[in-house]
Amino acid sequence: MRKYTDQQMKAFGLKPERIPKHVAIVMDGNGRWATSRGLPRAAGHRAGMNTVKEIIRAASDLGVESLTLYAFSTENRKRPKDEIGILCSLLIEYFNREIEEMHRNGVRVKAIGDMTWFPTAVQETVRNAEIKTANNTGLKVNLALNYGARAELVRAMRLAFAEDPEADESAIAQKLYTTDSGDVDLLIRTGGDIRVSNFLLWQIAYAELYFTDVRWPDFTMDELVNAFRDFAGRDRRFGGLKSNKAK
Ligand code: IPE
Ligand code: IPE
Ligand code: MG
Repeated sequence: MRKYTDQQMKAFGLKPERIPKHVAIVMDGNGRWATSRGLPRAAGHRAGMNTVKEIIRAASDLGVESLTLYAFSTENRKRPKDEIGILCSLLIEYFNREIEEMHRNGVRVKAIGDMTWFPTAVQETVRNAEIKTANNTGLKVNLALNYGARAELVRAMRLAFAEDPEADESAIAQKLYTTDSGDVDLLIRTGGDIRVSNFLLWQIAYAELYFTDVRWPDFTMDELVNAFRDFAGRDRRFGGLKSNKAK
């Protein structure tokens, strides 16, 4: 739910009608943030956790409807057990610490991905957060955990075709994890790499892409505002000819 008045939005250089409805973020660069400071990678993940809090708050305050955050990919399962364990502990810590405030702010949390792979403690923490916030009507936060777009698409197509062998695009879209949030308007990737890494392949078909060298722990509300200003200046044609400036 937008907190800033039209006047305040103007001071940011933003127009409420040009705010992307669905923003997706590849939160990358935690490890490099840490090693460049002579710290263990875990310190980068911990610092990145604080960014998650700030960006959820900022997205909500700026009037974003859905925020889909890539926290752990199916490919990240290749990482050392220690690092995966640390990420799981941080996830539990994050929810224990932040769920009340997110709930007060009307945030609805949903995990997307195959949660069955995670230890029971992680599954229960995330499940409880989903149940607690299920009826909230503010910002929808989709947290991608053990998520891969190809796996999501295989799942969605299997479900859709089981119901109807003639299932069309909209029937498949309804079976995606993010069906409530619709297509992505703006995809942001921090950390300097210019790739998608198996994130939301269907939903980004017509997304505007924004890449920044800023590493996730250094990403701030100001950086998010920069991305939104850039988005507002894009000419979204969706394959047509008529100029259709970012809605
Ligand atoms: C992103 O940061 C967080 C996860 C993938 C869990 P990285 O851990 O990938 O950080 P870099 O890319 O090594 O800097
Ligand atoms: C993408 O980051 C996944 C997440 C941010 C969770 P990676 O660090 O895993 O991506 P690659 O391996 O560099 O493509
Ligand atoms: Mg990375």
